[in-house]
Amino acid sequence: MPSGLRKGLTSYGDPGFSLFLRKAFIKAKGFSDDALDRPIVGVTDTYSDFNPCHGNVPVLIEAVKRGVMLAGGLPMEFPTISIHESFSAPTSMYLRNLMSIDTEEMVRAQPMDAVVLIGGCDKTLPAQLMGAVSADKPAIVVPTGPMVVGHHKGEVLGACTDCRRLWAQHRAGKMDEAEIEVVSGRLAPSVGTCMVMGTASTMACVVEALGFSLPYAAAVPAVHAERVRIAEASGKVAVEMARKGSPTPRQLFTERALRNALIVLQAIGGSTNGIVHLAAMAGRAGIRLDLDAFDALSREVPVLIDLKPSGDHYMEHFHHAGGVPRLMQELSDILDLDAPTVFGTLRDHVKVAEQVPGQTVIRSRQNPINPQGAMCVLRGNLAPRGAVIKQSAATPKLMTHEGRAVVFETIEDMTLRMDDPALDVTADDVLVLRNAGPKGAPGMPEAGYLPIPKKLAAAGVKDMVRISDARMSGTAFGTIVLHITPESADGGPLALVKTGDRIRLDVPQRSIELLVDDAELKRRAAQYKAPPPHAGSDRGYSWLFQSHVTQADEGCDFDFLKSRAQ
Ligand code: FES
Repeated sequence: MPSGLRKGLTSYGDPGFSLFLRKAFIKAKGFSDDALDRPIVGVTDTYSDFNPCHGNVPVLIEAVKRGVMLAGGLPMEFPTISIHESFSAPTSMYLRNLMSIDTEEMVRAQPMDAVVLIGGCDKTLPAQLMGAVSADKPAIVVPTGPMVVGHHKGEVLGACTDCRRLWAQHRAGKMDEAEIEVVSGRLAPSVGTCMVMGTASTMACVVEALGFSLPYAAAVPAVHAERVRIAEASGKVAVEMARKGSPTPRQLFTERALRNALIVLQAIGGSTNGIVHLAAMAGRAGIRLDLDAFDALSREVPVLIDLKPSGDHYMEHFHHAGGVPRLMQELSDILDLDAPTVFGTLRDHVKVAEQVPGQTVIRSRQNPINPQGAMCVLRGNLAPRGAVIKQSAATPKLMTHEGRAVVFETIEDMTLRMDDPALDVTADDVLVLRNAGPKGAPGMPEAGYLPIPKKLAAAGVKDMVRISDARMSGTAFGTIVLHITPESADGGPLALVKTGDRIRLDVPQRSIELLVDDAELKRRAAQYKAPPPHAGSDRGYSWLFQSHVTQADEGCDFDFLKSRAQ
């Protein structure tokens, strides 16, 4: 098996000439033959001025390269695209698969024996791992790490659970224009990823549980020296992996690793997006994520981490309490500790867990934040292929609720009418948003956190049952049913709901039902007309997305990117 510079030669019909030419060009950068004979470790560069969550990437790249060279390898940095949540239209999810293709093909095409994936913002780690699993070259992940917390008027603040909470106060007229402007400068006080248990933090924890990163890699703050040392150590481990040619991503991403990741996802009070991304990654490894098995874990695995939005603290507090290794120690009896990782097994990972006396952020199994897991899977005539609710961030008294549907046809419709004082809505109604799924929006935006109508918010209503085929930011909270599958734009039953219908949510029974009889639903289905194609979707990436994106239960990956083994 060729290695280093001899790997994957450009096709000129003469391998000797291909290598000669490759060397001639790379020598233009001043590399010596000694350097070029070393194992090559690729290092992804996802830095962008549009991506403050990756603002520390240059420092991490330098540290990874140092680690690679200390271990006798040759680091080669290369760019892939960069996606930030707030700078991606229509949504970052729309671009995730593009980034995964970019990562897969660049890792495969270029001569590297191993790769260090540096990333952090919500879609980046999923995209990188999806690509890495498909390319199947040894890969280790260095998350960019969470921001440190902010402060405002003596209160600790964090992106973006508090962004939503304070914006809701502003909407309700309890915080004026000037103060909300001040707050916008304090919610994200450093580079790094959102420091609550949102999607970025969730995915960093999940990556650690899958065995793709070193201990503590998920939670050390982005600006701490310890993160730089983790990057250096990851560079050294990558050289080992390059020399051995293992473990490859497919050796790590197995059924047992996926189950470990799902347990950790439940125990951290993780983002609902985690389940979509894990389904997509699993699809690349030829594994189908079983939503019912995930739901079964929600009854077995409690939420143990006291972090927003399910609890009170932030990622830096989680780190100071012992991070993912300490959490996994608490879950040792249900995790498969023999699952391999980039540097041994998960047992080695748990062994190094620091014991922090008096810490209250990582709870014991006897004293959980929530006796059940973070999220569960609902089914019913509204969601034949499933829907998800984050029960740990919902209002307990709304977990069983029947109400009248108030339907919004699209996100635009919702934006136009939600705050209209004439909107016929009460706190007991169920807000319904459709055409916000993978195809409908497109890109399955995080619009599932429907705002409380202004007149109800002003009257003190903080939560209502809200349902949609959209996603929700992992930083959000409320009694919100998401990922209704199939989506309405794909002919799912959500398309048949009318304002005034009754909807029943029963989380203990795991059901979401439209209380309309079958004959009437059949009549409505016969009249259903699919929404018109999105402007521009007759060509290019938009066409590709619209033609090939799968539903939420399959991870919204493109159908042609899934492993053929499935
Ligand atoms: Fe990048 Fe939150 S916006 S992690």
